[in-house]
Amino acid sequence: MPLRHPQLRADGKLAHLLTIEGLPAAMIHRILDVAASFIGVAERDVKKVPLLRGKSVFNLFFENSTRTRTTFEIAAKRLSADVVNLNINTSSANKGESLLDTVDNLAAMHADLFVVRHSQSGAPFLIAEHLNRNYQGRIQVVNAGDGAHGHPTQGLLDMYTIRHFKKSFTELRVAIVGDVLHSRVARSDIHALTTLGVPEVRVIAPETLVPSGVEQLGVHFTTDMKKGLKDVDVVIMLRLQNERMNGALLPSAQEYFKHYGLTREKLALAKPDAIVMHPGPMNRGIEIDSAVADGAQAVILNQVSFGIAVRMAVMSLLVAP
Ligand code: NCD
Repeated sequence: MPLRHPQLRADGKLAHLLTIEGLPAAMIHRILDVAASFIGVAERDVKKVPLLRGKSVFNLFFENSTRTRTTFEIAAKRLSADVVNLNINTSSANKGESLLDTVDNLAAMHADLFVVRHSQSGAPFLIAEHLNRNYQGRIQVVNAGDGAHGHPTQGLLDMYTIRHFKKSFTELRVAIVGDVLHSRVARSDIHALTTLGVPEVRVIAPETLVPSGVEQLGVHFTTDMKKGLKDVDVVIMLRLQNERMNGALLPSAQEYFKHYGLTREKLALAKPDAIVMHPGPMNRGIEIDSAVADGAQAVILNQVSFGIAVRMAVMSLLVAP
């Protein structure tokens, strides 16, 4: 019978990182603790560490990315790995090679870890199952974003950021605002927040941009931005994913900004020390006003920096002997 979580080994250790759903809270805290131990290395106050010396990390990106690919690359280099970047939409996939043939060819080049981004949900699972079957678990996979399904390292770096600024999860109110329907970040964040015991996770969005039955994920849903932001500790803004929308889900960008764009006035409804997060890339003036994006409560660039340490933690837990 296939394991429900092919990412966990029989001894409970991580074999791959494919999704946050089903990861035990203790495992999430362990990853965050290891990340904390790497902060000095990630931020270059301390020399690189040799944990992945002699290992090859292949960044396999079937979809565009700047921040995520770059931070994986920096993280792998800080661990002393060799890094190969492949932008597949411009190479073999165009020639008709199948996903698993591409993977087999790179495995033949002695890859130790694949970091996979793909527009199809489930692609990293498919690769992980193939590697488990054919390479005796010697090659690991990290999901760097698959379709609208998940983006576990973004979820983990978001948790790192929240823990850094708020210390604990168990008394927080967190609002996730915007295009939840198309957002893999929202799904990973919701799984992580509920697993870590955040008592109140609110989703704020127009009806057309939430998956039906979103409450089943353990969140409260409202279309009312003002009600939703009241007294929250953390605001996670999402990008409007125009590239994943087909058809008219929204009247106009201006209309969206009027109701759901985060302005200073709306942010004033949250707690005075609330932090504002965004996974990037931001659409200024559509989901977030520049005054907020560049304001004192924004921790958006901290998220990017913490992402390096978190990705170092994940890769070292998967690959280091
Ligand atoms: C996110 C992604 O690609 O899923 N960005 C990222 O990884 N930094 C969010 C987004 O594209 O909106």
